[in-house]
Amino acid sequence: MIVGIWAEDEQGLIGVKGTLPWSLPAELQHFKKTTMGQAILMGRKTFDGMHQRVLPGRTTIVLTRDPAYQTATSDVRLFNSPDDVLAWYQSQAADQAKDLYIIGGAEMFKAFQGHFDRLYRTIVAGKFEGDTYFPQDALRLEQFEEVASRVHPADEQNAYAFTIKTYESKK
Ligand SMILES: NC(=O)c1ccc[n+]([C@@H]2O[C@H](COP(=O)([O-])OP(=O)(O)OC[C@H]3O[C@@H](n4cnc5c(N)ncnc54)[C@H](OP(=O)(O)O)[C@@H]3O)[C@@H](O)[C@H]2O)c1
Repeated sequence: MIVGIWAEDEQGLIGVKGTLPWSLPAELQHFKKTTMGQAILMGRKTFDGMHQRVLPGRTTIVLTRDPAYQTATSDVRLFNSPDDVLAWYQSQAADQAKDLYIIGGAEMFKAFQGHFDRLYRTIVAGKFEGDTYFPQDALRLEQFEEVASRVHPADEQNAYAFTIKTYESKK
């Protein structure tokens, strides 16, 4: 199964200067719990924005058009096209029974449009400053059915409330 997971604010903002616009430990816990043991794919800009840090317990995949792109760690699978990723995933899936999580940024949700079976969308209650927005023209939510919605209120560690919505593809 191919799954999209991201967090956006009330205006669809997802990024600022290569990183996240907010600090929400409970939202990161949701991300960690959901993706643990799975394969996660991100764009090169997101990976560089994380200072090329590999998240433990997950197979990390990075997409770049640059065949000479180098990483400080060998614990990453590099691909140069979405088709190569999909071919690899199809060859792996039967063996490993892992889901492929597309974790962003915006360019990745465009690159894998039409392939998503499930979405985990977090909406952060706030309007932030930033430069990267979720590509709503590419990944159309009307092609999905909302099957769950859970509110996490603001608390001492999390300055903003957020809602996690789950969608299944209608295809
Ligand atoms: N809120 C969230 O849930 C969330 C999640 C993830 C990321 N983000 C944020 O989003 C921002 C980054 O997003 P972004 O859209 O600017 O960049 P991105 O998707 O992280 O990475 C874009 C890069 O991916 C590669 N790429 C894109 N399409 C490709 C294709 N078809 N084939 C091969 N490679 C391809 C290119 O790398 P090369 O230039 O190396 O060729 C491109 O520059 C950051 O601020 C990050 O923190 C937010």
